[in-house]
Amino acid sequence: MRGEPAKEPVVLGIETSCDETAAAVVAGDRRILSSIVLSQLEDHKAYGGVVPEIAARAHIEHLDGLVERALAEAGVDFTDLSGIAATAGPGLIGGVLVGLVTGKAMAAAAGLPFIAVNHLEGHALSARLSHGIEFPFLLLLVTGGHCQLIAAEGLGRYERLGTTIDDAIGEAFDKTARMLGMGYPGGPEIERAARRGNPKRYALPRPMRGRDGCDFSFSGLKTAVRRITDAGPLSAQDVADVAASFQAAVGDVVADRTRNAMANFSVKFGRGHPLVVAGGVAANIALRTRLDAGATRAGFTLVAPPKELCTDNAAMIAWAGVERLRAGLTDGLDAPGRARWPLAELRSA
Ligand code: KG4
Ligand code: ZN
Repeated sequence: MRGEPAKEPVVLGIETSCDETAAAVVAGDRRILSSIVLSQLEDHKAYGGVVPEIAARAHIEHLDGLVERALAEAGVDFTDLSGIAATAGPGLIGGVLVGLVTGKAMAAAAGLPFIAVNHLEGHALSARLSHGIEFPFLLLLVTGGHCQLIAAEGLGRYERLGTTIDDAIGEAFDKTARMLGMGYPGGPEIERAARRGNPKRYALPRPMRGRDGCDFSFSGLKTAVRRITDAGPLSAQDVADVAASFQAAVGDVVADRTRNAMANFSVKFGRGHPLVVAGGVAANIALRTRLDAGATRAGFTLVAPPKELCTDNAAMIAWAGVERLRAGLTDGLDAPGRARWPLAELRSA
């Protein structure tokens, strides 16, 4: 890269909104020049979840070094960059501020445009980075903090069709895993155990299934699992059966809610558009298989970005920066960090 004139924008992305510290360099032709993710899993393991203060301190400790490595691996320095993008929310505010302030300071020092990226838009656009899909598309965003169905009409233009009225889907996986004595994050552990389990052994509820609209609910499912774990010690086979039954129930609910969203989306945009599943929970193969079948029936094509772009990463933030930079949507150094920042409140071109 060094010495060559850049035909496409090249953006450094920074992500610190939860428990991953990440830095990446992405080019406008969808090349990921580098993407480094440092997980803080070990730091939080003993607590069964993410501790905000521990996360913020770890981001402070590691971010500078990660940015240096990301630039070095990409073979670029600041003079090769077209802009710097950092997650400005939503997320744990201490961590968000670490990445945001670092990004702003680097942009100011290097005289580069700065882009304040909404983490959810990063997830939303990840399939445009991996697969180059066009707008509009339907997005199922399933993470540890969110469970939303979104009509993505254009850059910065998102209509939320449905959301969870209680727990996020990843949270439901994590809490269920915890009740079953598994570690954090729970999703991968539940998926692993479910492979050895009988999904029909426990009749768990399917909250919201069959109802109008696209909202989700998972707390009833969690309570049902608690009743089983409270009733007595579970054998390894029982645990696998609960995990399989839970995963089947989640799959039924997600398939049902997504079916409504696809019907709703088709009324406005017609058939033949992508259904994108993004976010950490999109790594779940059983869930993807269910969605794939439903999407085909409804005239959609399921698009799932690769796993490393589904879980939190900075390549998706850098890419959102590329798209926003191209659209002239850069931000001032007064861009605020936000703990809460709904997709519906973004600036668009
Ligand atoms: O998108 P993400 O990396 O971080 C957030 O922004 O939340 O998502 C993390 C969530 C966790 O709740 C984790 O348990 C879940 O994604 N997850 C999974 C799987 N892999 C990660 N859930 C179900 N099955 C998986 N294979
Ligand atoms: Zn995320």
